Amino acid sequence: MVANKKLLMLPGDGIGPEVMAEVRRLIDWMDRRRHVSFDVTEDLVGGAAYDVHGVAITDATMEAALGADAVLFGAVGGPKWDDVGYDVRPEAGLLRLRKDLDLFANLRPAICFDALADASSLKRDLVSGLDILIVRELTGGVYFGEPRGIEDLPDGQRRGVNTQVYTTSEIHRVCRVAFDLARKRGNRVCSTEKSNVMESGVLWRQEAQRVHDEEFPDVELTHMLADNCGMQLVRNPAQFDVIVTDNLFGDMLSDVASMLTGSLGMLPSASLGPADDSGRRRALYEPVHGSAPDIAGQGKANPLAMIQSYAMMLRYSFDMAEDADLLEQAVRNALDSGCRTIDIAGSGISPISCTEMGAAIVDELDRLAA
Ligand code: IPM
Ligand code: MG
Repeated sequence: MVANKKLLMLPGDGIGPEVMAEVRRLIDWMDRRRHVSFDVTEDLVGGAAYDVHGVAITDATMEAALGADAVLFGAVGGPKWDDVGYDVRPEAGLLRLRKDLDLFANLRPAICFDALADASSLKRDLVSGLDILIVRELTGGVYFGEPRGIEDLPDGQRRGVNTQVYTTSEIHRVCRVAFDLARKRGNRVCSTEKSNVMESGVLWRQEAQRVHDEEFPDVELTHMLADNCGMQLVRNPAQFDVIVTDNLFGDMLSDVASMLTGSLGMLPSASLGPADDSGRRRALYEPVHGSAPDIAGQGKANPLAMIQSYAMMLRYSFDMAEDADLLEQAVRNALDSGCRTIDIAGSGISPISCTEMGAAIVDELDRLAA
């Protein structure tokens, strides 16, 4: 009997609550069929929290996140909150969670399911079998660097400032995560920066090389400029195994990589903090897609990114590789049997709804566990 794990669910805005509801279904299934129980609490984040509390996340919710074994996050934001103050905008809730939980390593796998190779914007032979892992630094760089702000200049102009800044230890710890994960996969890491124009990029390249030489000489390390990396991702994505990069480049490159897989709606992510003495890490799991306000409330959302984020939680937070494998197999089987939400349907296939996709995954789980 496994002890109860504390899970904090933050569905957020837009399609967040819809895709999170399908994870609830999986939690119930695992309780019934695998005797794994989670203590689930649910709370507000993003615009939903702003509407009630006037902030994107409350201190009480932050306390709950700090006390949880894992946080499951849906999505935040939408046009409804376009005019709220910058500090309380929905995205600020997510950024506070990342910063206060010290979730410095963001894992974004881009895997192309064979059944979806034709939904990719690239030709099938370029993406078939694709399995890339982007490791994005998540608590530093231009997202958090000081000074920042918008100031008035004496000549009447305004000036916007953000600062790209990295220290050696910030670079070292995220590179270690990337090298470690590479050893369990294809054993290759490509480190990406703009060392041709940015000093922080020069430092990134040197320190990635140092961590490699001192601690991971068995892993193959290459360096690539970030613009070239974007180009190579759409030219020949299969050349990559693990890509490690900073916060902003990782944001952009992971959106590019996600589309290679057929749909932004397919891509899960894990955000991990430093390991404590017992090896446990704080962690947050979220789909890479946003809140998609244009389709919210219509049953059109693809829950597979959220569902696979849940599978990543089982794997990385709870050491439940067998259950994660089972769930990922159920996703593959549902896709193979033709289940498609509208974003991955392509022409000639009639799409199913978000809840129908969730039900299909549970059916596949029943079949696999029979
Ligand atoms: C992401 C998103 C976020 C980011 C936004 C919502 C703040 O684009 O997780 O990729 O820029 O990091
Ligand atoms: Mg993004």
